[in-house]
Amino acid sequence: MGKSPNDLGASYSRIDLNDQNRILRLLANPGGEEARQVLADADRLRSRTVGDKVHLRGLIEFSNYCRNNCLYCGLRRGNRKVARYRMTPEEIIAAAEHGASLGYRTVVLQSGEDPAYTAETIAAVIRDIKGLGLVVTLSIGEREPWEYELWRKAGAERYLMRHETADPALYQRLHPGQSLEQRVALLKILKQLDYQVGTGFMVGLPGQDSRTLYADLELALALNAEMVGIGPFIPHPDTPLGREAGGTVELTCLMVALTRLALPYALIPATTALGSIDPFGREAALQAGANVVMPNLTPRKYRPDYQIYPNKICLGEEAADCRGCISKRIESLGRRVADDPGHNLLWLQRRVGSPVAGS
Ligand code: 5AD
Ligand code: SF4
Ligand code: FES
Repeated sequence: MGKSPNDLGASYSRIDLNDQNRILRLLANPGGEEARQVLADADRLRSRTVGDKVHLRGLIEFSNYCRNNCLYCGLRRGNRKVARYRMTPEEIIAAAEHGASLGYRTVVLQSGEDPAYTAETIAAVIRDIKGLGLVVTLSIGEREPWEYELWRKAGAERYLMRHETADPALYQRLHPGQSLEQRVALLKILKQLDYQVGTGFMVGLPGQDSRTLYADLELALALNAEMVGIGPFIPHPDTPLGREAGGTVELTCLMVALTRLALPYALIPATTALGSIDPFGREAALQAGANVVMPNLTPRKYRPDYQIYPNKICLGEEAADCRGCISKRIESLGRRVADDPGHNLLWLQRRVGSPVAGS
């Protein structure tokens, strides 16, 4: 990994992130003593850089239509078993309002890649939700740069779009008709538009090895991502990868820890996928460098139809249940829920005294 202000994480850690061979050995033994130390280093670094508070983001899964056919995903267009739904702008705004009343400061608007929502429809929803005093994060996939720009101007401040895997050949196999090159180009455009950009990847994908994971780390660092979402691959029976093995909690948490060491100020969620393969998976990630949780805010009637992977947690819970559940879990670790908006601190710093940055 090249020298950049970001490999300062290495100095907090007993492990040199630039030493690829050492990282590869570590990744080959995610349950070992060295891995345990890396998790502890990342936990300590997280406390020093972003603090002990945990930021909550209320997730609104507003449409499960998707034009793509990602081999791993339950919402792929080829999966005929999914009952498709689209929430109306009014329903989306009502869910955000409910989130605000539960104390969320950020909502994440997520969907499959669904062209039925025009750029202007999304922009109007953003403006209304901003009017509630909430931060808006978008997670709606690949769109045109002018649309990203319109939404940024409408007030969206964060965009999540995982690179999924940094191996271009594997990316191509998993995403028919798409390319890693295009994905990375769009992530760079989002950065130029002054979004806080979230990338991320899955751990345990068929065809992935330790070298791929090292490349995932390098790519997140090269993008200087403000947020990095890391979850285990979970085989979905109604997809072509349904019979493959899934990712483990151990290896996923080790990648969370290494990501924290590489990007000391990043916002790193303890993902729902981790919570879905292990009842304490999210707690494990929060103790390995993570500092964000994204509880579900989708109306209950739609939840069972948004199964990107099987056995997803919280399908039967109401938004208020998840809000309460997650607070208790965070407090059980001796941590607290943050009450500020939870922006990336380096992004905030860049904007101070930079009039061109806008709002
Ligand atoms: N297992 C785990 N994560 C998945 N995602 C999609 N399908 C699966 C799966 N089967 C992840 C992708 C996507 C995010 C919204 O969900 O990384 O970016
Ligand atoms: Fe669509 Fe996203 Fe699922 Fe791919 S991962 S099929 S883009 S919802
Ligand atoms: Fe939904 Fe625990 S977060 S029930």
